[in-house]
Amino acid sequence: MRIVLVGPPGAGKGTQAHVLAKTLSIPHISTGDLFRANISQSTPLGLEAKGYMDKGQLVPDEVTIGMAKDRLLQSDTAGGFLLDGFPRNLAQAKALDEFLSEQRIGLDGALDLEVPEDEVVKRIAGRRICRNNGAHVYHVVYNPPAAEGVCDECGGELYQRSDDTEESVRTRLEVYHTETEPIIDYYVQQGLVTTIPALGTVDEVTQRAVDALKK
Ligand code: AP5
Ligand code: ZN
Repeated sequence: MRIVLVGPPGAGKGTQAHVLAKTLSIPHISTGDLFRANISQSTPLGLEAKGYMDKGQLVPDEVTIGMAKDRLLQSDTAGGFLLDGFPRNLAQAKALDEFLSEQRIGLDGALDLEVPEDEVVKRIAGRRICRNNGAHVYHVVYNPPAAEGVCDECGGELYQRSDDTEESVRTRLEVYHTETEPIIDYYVQQGLVTTIPALGTVDEVTQRAVDALKK
């Protein structure tokens, strides 16, 4: 299956993608995680992306689309993929369509995680992620690790993202409304969108997503 996950920052895209990718045996591809891996290795791409990310702005399309295509060309995507955080504007959505049609494939669905803004702010404020793997995501209240500051899955150190500041979150929400929301209509026109109410426990949301993908 080839699926795109859409939703505001803090909706739970990364959390759900991690579980769904395991369930469906397809890779979870997060452009945010790819950028953060480049930042931690101080690559030129990481150095370029960091300034945009810390301010909550989108990294320029030329950089992002190239990185996403390179990742999609890796052999583990032959059976499908789950895209988290890409595409994030219409130019990226069109570039993805073009890329997939060149490969003579297409998307099977787009899941739109819907969460009220006050909940998103609470989720982001308490988020902690793992240094070893950005897909290992916790929350100090909603989803705490067994031992404080330590990842249950791999023992890695948990930290707070440098873009999880109040100011950056405000910008990310604005960018979501102006740049990213239009791609929902774009995918609605292609008959690909299922809206998933994303309030409730992580397991409840996963179940809704799994049910939606069966249809
Ligand atoms: P990215 O890393 O994609 O961040 P985002 O879209 O802002 O989304 P988040 O990672 O904040 O949230 P999420 O929906 O994954 O929620 P999570 O599962 O962590 O992007 C970061 C930056 O990179 C961008 O601002 C941009 O600069 C750049 N970038 C990335 N992609 C780009 C692109 N395509 N183009 C240009 N620039 C790009 O959950 C949040 C919290 O809630 C966690 O603590 C979790 O434990 C908790 N939680 C999850 N589910 C539940 C639940 N059901 N109940 C209670 N708590 C929950
Ligand atoms: Zn971990």
